[in-house]
Formats: sequence, structure tokens, C-alpha cells
Amino acid sequence: MPTITLPDGLTIDAPHGKRLVLALEDGGVDILHRCGGNAKCTTCRVQFAAGEPTRMTIAERDRLADGGLIGQVRLSCQIPCEHDMVLKMTNRLAGSQYENAGDRPKDTITPEPIWVDRPR
Ligand code: FES
Repeated sequence: MPTITLPDGLTIDAPHGKRLVLALEDGGVDILHRCGGNAKCTTCRVQFAAGEPTRMTIAERDRLADGGLIGQVRLSCQIPCEHDMVLKMTNRLAGSQYENAGDRPKDTITPEPIWVDRPR
């Protein structure tokens, strides 16, 4: 079972394949997901200290490219938990402009994932 290490050093054990955004939320992190996990808003962004996945969905790549965010953040709604990951930033409801995190993302990655290598 992959372990997610949070910026404060706490850890979450996530079932293999679970969406990272849901692993964080169910682990008690108030991660934002304002578009409901559809790679449209970028509010579910995280930064990696270790274990950044080497592949990404085309939807994530295109959204990050649109925002000039390639190489800076990843979208936790587009990442399945398949190995241990260490995060150095999670984008949280606390301290944000929003009143709620957003609709809960579906259990499976949306839109239907098409995988590509992570751009450098
Ligand atoms: S991009 Fe909106 S929840 Fe991930």
C-alpha cells in the first residue's frame, strides 16, 4: 500500500490506485478540488519532494501547460497512488478564497486518462 508523506511529516496509507486527491481528502487534508477532479481548475495542485510520477494524463499536461505550470506543480486529481510519494505542498481550503473544497471527485480519474511521459 503506497504511503503519502505530507509536508508536516504525517503519513497516509493509500489503497493502490486511489486518486491522490481522494487519498489526501480521506486522510484528513482539506485539499481543494474546485472542478470536481476534471483537470480544469488546478486548485488540487501539489508539489513533490520525492516520488513524483513520471507519467501524466494528457488532460493534466494540457492544463498545466495552459497555466505555465509545467515543472512547478502536479494535479492531484490526475495522479493514482501507485508508489510512495513525499509532498512538500498541498493546496488547501484553509487560507483560500473558497468556502468549500468543491464537489468530491469520482473514484476513477476523469476525464478518461490518456497517459504521456511527464514533460521536463
Ligand atoms: S484540476 Fe480541478 S480538481 Fe484537479
